[in-house]
Amino acid sequence: MNNFIFRNPTKLIFGKGTISQLPKEIDPTKKVLLTFGGGSVKKNGVYDQVIKALEGYDLVEFWGIEPNPKVETLRKAVALGKAEKVDMVLAVGGGSVVDGSKLIAASIVSELDPWALVSNRFPITESLPLASVLTLPATGSEMNSGAVISNAETNEKFAFYSFHPVFSILDPEVTFSLPEFQISCGIADTFVHTMEQYLTTPGQSPLMDRWAEGILLTLIEIAPEIMEDKTNYDLMSDFMLCATMALNGFISMGVSQDWTTHMIGHELTALKGVTHGETLAIVLPATMTVLSEQKKGKILQYGERIWGITEGSEGVRVAEAIACTERFFRMLGLKTRLSELGIGQDTIDEIERRFNERQVAFGERQNVTGPVARAILEECL
Ligand code: NZQ
Ligand code: ZN
Repeated sequence: MNNFIFRNPTKLIFGKGTISQLPKEIDPTKKVLLTFGGGSVKKNGVYDQVIKALEGYDLVEFWGIEPNPKVETLRKAVALGKAEKVDMVLAVGGGSVVDGSKLIAASIVSELDPWALVSNRFPITESLPLASVLTLPATGSEMNSGAVISNAETNEKFAFYSFHPVFSILDPEVTFSLPEFQISCGIADTFVHTMEQYLTTPGQSPLMDRWAEGILLTLIEIAPEIMEDKTNYDLMSDFMLCATMALNGFISMGVSQDWTTHMIGHELTALKGVTHGETLAIVLPATMTVLSEQKKGKILQYGERIWGITEGSEGVRVAEAIACTERFFRMLGLKTRLSELGIGQDTIDEIERRFNERQVAFGERQNVTGPVARAILEECL
């Protein structure tokens, strides 16, 4: 096991009716910038619950943080927060609103342009406190310090690291209004977060392996039931907790990681607007195929423990494990091939060009360069 430091300061407040606990967590003398997406929270009653809970507080509202939040939009929120001299930011929405709000909270106390904070790749050292009321289980942003921000001008999408939310409220009932596609993308995102911290080399930590396998097995068990019954409180509770636990540091202690699928997926979103979870459903099986020799030991363990594959040669078992993975995403109703979205060679050329220019080297062996990414994308066709 590698050395590590683990610290996750986010207070999780989970369950029915928990939005009403906001006043217990926020000092009434503080001026709060509330940040929202495109309006789903007005339709499903979440906005009303937040406003009722914070009655009497000094509130400023910012609306319009879009999916794959754009720095161009976030700059407007930063200007509002600075002008209003807010003391904290409360994000109410999905991962995009929470991610965007991480950049808003850090930029309000910075002289730098928000894109400089993202593209500098320096860890952020100062931020206003941020908290969240999460409405979409997927990203883990409610309990991690990461955020992914898009730039419309340059067609880029980059991750940066800031502070963890101080607290996050997770009421599974707020997920009942989610469209089926967003639920499917959220399940795929959670599955792939787990895989990117698991599918490297075997034998690093039996404990981390089994925590990760616990999340994968839970998702495989509940996903078909969720597809049948999207307003089942207990199923959505477990899904919500899987999403948080998959990317809050708990399954990555002391083990190697490989974020190849995400890095390629972000380019498909930046260039072609593909929804995050769907990019992962397309890229993960191909990543497993192209890197199958290097990852053989872990793919065999995954195949046996997750899908019960014990028969046949190693090659047959590896191929079956990859096929099961793709079938799982298709069961969710997601596309798993670039050709289904009309994406072809020109996009592959551009992604390879960008990766070559940035001299990337992803993966546990840092061997996923531009040409390897091309091989993965060609396998996705
Ligand atoms: O904008 P509104 O109107 O709120 O509608 C949203 C949006 O259209 C809607 N929605 C959210 N909650 C809802 C709801 N509709 C009905 N009922 C509800 N309860 O869903 C749509 C998608 O929302 P979005 O926030 O974009 O989805 P998600 O949570 O999947 O976030 C995706 C973003 O997170 C980044 C992705 O790259 C992408 O930009 N990620 C962030 C990570 C992190 N911070 O650690 C890690 C992830 O790998 C990921 O990269
Ligand atoms: Zn993700």
